[in-house]
Amino acid sequence: MLFRNRFLLLLALAALLAFLSLSLQFFHLIPVSAPKNGASSKSRKRIMPDPVMEPGVPGPIHEALLYCNIPNVAERSMEGHAPHHFKLISVQVLIRHGDRYPLYTIPKTKRPEIDCTLVANRKPYHPKLEAFISHMSKGSGTSFESPLNSLPLYPNHPLCEMGELTQTGVVQHLQNGQLLRDIYVKKHKLLPTDWSADQLYLETTGKSRTLQSGLALLYGFLPDFDWKKIYFRHQPSALFCSGSCYCPLRNQYLKKEQHRQYLLRLKNSQLEKTYGDMARIVDIPTTQLRAANPIDSLLCHFCHNISFPCTKNGCIDMGHFKVIKMHQIEDEKERREMKLYLGYSLLGAHPILNQTVNRMQRAAEGRKDEIFALYSAHDVTLSPVLSALGLSEARFPRFAARLIFELWQDREKPSEHSVRILYNGVDVTFHTSFCQDHHRHSPKPMCPLENLVHFVKRDMFVALDGSSTNYYDACHMEVV
Ligand SMILES: *[C@@H]1O[C@H](CO)[C@@H](O)[C@H](O)[C@H]1NC(C)=O
Ligand SMILES: *[C@@H]1O[C@H](CO)[C@@H](O)[C@H](O)[C@H]1NC(C)=O
Repeated sequence: MLFRNRFLLLLALAALLAFLSLSLQFFHLIPVSAPKNGASSKSRKRIMPDPVMEPGVPGPIHEALLYCNIPNVAERSMEGHAPHHFKLISVQVLIRHGDRYPLYTIPKTKRPEIDCTLVANRKPYHPKLEAFISHMSKGSGTSFESPLNSLPLYPNHPLCEMGELTQTGVVQHLQNGQLLRDIYVKKHKLLPTDWSADQLYLETTGKSRTLQSGLALLYGFLPDFDWKKIYFRHQPSALFCSGSCYCPLRNQYLKKEQHRQYLLRLKNSQLEKTYGDMARIVDIPTTQLRAANPIDSLLCHFCHNISFPCTKNGCIDMGHFKVIKMHQIEDEKERREMKLYLGYSLLGAHPILNQTVNRMQRAAEGRKDEIFALYSAHDVTLSPVLSALGLSEARFPRFAARLIFELWQDREKPSEHSVRILYNGVDVTFHTSFCQDHHRHSPKPMCPLENLVHFVKRDMFVALDGSSTNYYDACHMEVV
């Protein structure tokens, strides 16, 4: 009897342990040991469904919630995973700014009341928020290229200005920074203990929300935030193409893509009816409402849990919101199929990918400067880069989205370097067009740097179906 009871107890205990270890692994509380060699990271990937890359449409509300990216603690992340004989050489991070106030207002309605001052004991919280506010309020000295000097270092209006970063946006990037610090600084010792300004490369567009997002991320990331070691360069173009922005073919692709969007919209009678309804509620012509890009403002209401605007004629409601959001999802689907956006993206993303690859090559040659790069940017920056890399299934960049390029060196063969690409913490390396076939043909567990280099320096133009093998020729081809 006693023996049998003990046996049952052991059985129960074993079951409990199995369950615990499974759930702990699921939440990444215990690191999944990296495969030694041969075993591909693909087999690891199959254990879990992959929410970033999984096609299929779970619905407009689900999509909208992912877009908001409301800060919470349980984030899964695959950054910094590699077989143990690989050494991390450099990391480049391309971010979208965090949660912001709308860029447009819906005419004749009250704009959402959101407080853009930072208050440490107001939600959403972050343990470093208070120190961030105090550090930023002391001013920066000369850490920025003109005209960035004229921008405020943190959001500070009791009623947000148009496009201003919110406290949510700051917290999202403090969280990104802290996560990357735990992995890259603490675990992989990417920065030497006596690191200096040379080890960082920082670039941002000239909007306060991108500069402030970059500062929040760095504040979470750096072991010590010393203004003397910070220098942000200014990027005038949202495509990060300064110096090589002139590209007639890219503009032609964009025009055709916009025409495709227009035709799709005309076909959607439910969408037309919804805009008509909303225009009646707000009491303006439908064309004027459409021009005010109401979804941007409605998303702000949605992400901040503020009810949609009302007038004496009625209220804009969740039904309207769902129809417009659903149309966006369908638009993205057709965009992938028609490939016009791909043409635009290959040309639009080349300059920043070229820059990224050049920086990797220098690091692979052993240079120790610029081992951490941060590009603080917009959805219109990330979206073409994702598309150009062949990540067409990737979701539209949410607030505070991050795309990361890691460079690794094989300690057993020091001349060999590999890249990993991560989007919002998910390893998408083997979904890219330059490494998706790698697994099937190679015993190596990592994607070779050369694959990315050849793609950016040449193959991405071949993918345009022309005869060009470089950016300047490709930009001046005729549309086929
Ligand atoms: C949203 O607001 C309503 C009341 O306006 C509240 O009952 C609800 O809990 C809020 N939801 C969240 C997620 O904060
Ligand atoms: C790409 O990088 C090379 C340096 O390797 C540079 O000479 C060239 O101008 C860059 N091209 C573009 C379009 O940025």
